[in-house]
Amino acid sequence: MLIQIISLFPEMFPPVLETSMLFKAKTKGIVDYSYINLRDFGLGKRRTVDDTPYGGGDGMLLKPEPLVAAIEMARAKDPDAQTVLMTPRGGRFTQAKARELSKASGLVLVCSRYEGYDERVTAFVDEQISIGDYVLTGGELPAMVVTDAVVRLIPGVLGGEKSAEIESFSDDKTLEYPQYTRPENFRGMKVPDVLLKGHHAEIEKWRNKNNREIKQN
Ligand code: ADE
Repeated sequence: MLIQIISLFPEMFPPVLETSMLFKAKTKGIVDYSYINLRDFGLGKRRTVDDTPYGGGDGMLLKPEPLVAAIEMARAKDPDAQTVLMTPRGGRFTQAKARELSKASGLVLVCSRYEGYDERVTAFVDEQISIGDYVLTGGELPAMVVTDAVVRLIPGVLGGEKSAEIESFSDDKTLEYPQYTRPENFRGMKVPDVLLKGHHAEIEKWRNKNNREIKQN
């Protein structure tokens, strides 16, 4: 899966995406990341990407021409890619959405900045996603969150296929059960007995009972 990310700050991504599992997924050839610098599509000698809002108001908005030119370049490279605008006004990102996006043939993640973007940009994306009801300084961190949650669901990315299997069987309301490793007694807190006994049916029962539910607000 090719994940193309459009941003004014492409240098933010490699420290996160080119590390650990997300990097391993790339070296295995399962995903590839491509960073597109929005500034390259800026207008005029100064490569302008923003302007003041019609009707007045504080701050600057990203102009439509550079954003749409960058989106069109990304889509020309990967016409079937799902194009997503990161915005606090989007639909809430969930595990179900991560699973859905993990089945896409490619992704184009568009990061906004500053006070926002010209609304007409939304006509050029497939969907808008928010990672939560708070406003960040830009879509870069949300794009990293989406990339992480999506890439780990692609078959072959997680170490043991067992982990992916557990997830494919679980519905989207379940997280994992609590887990423990050595020592058996840590500062007086003991590992539940059932986990020490090697009775697989009992362990399975305990794990199902103790599956953590994702808290919905
Ligand atoms: N850009 C700024 N805040 C955001 C949020 N909460 N989710 C997605 N994109 C954003």
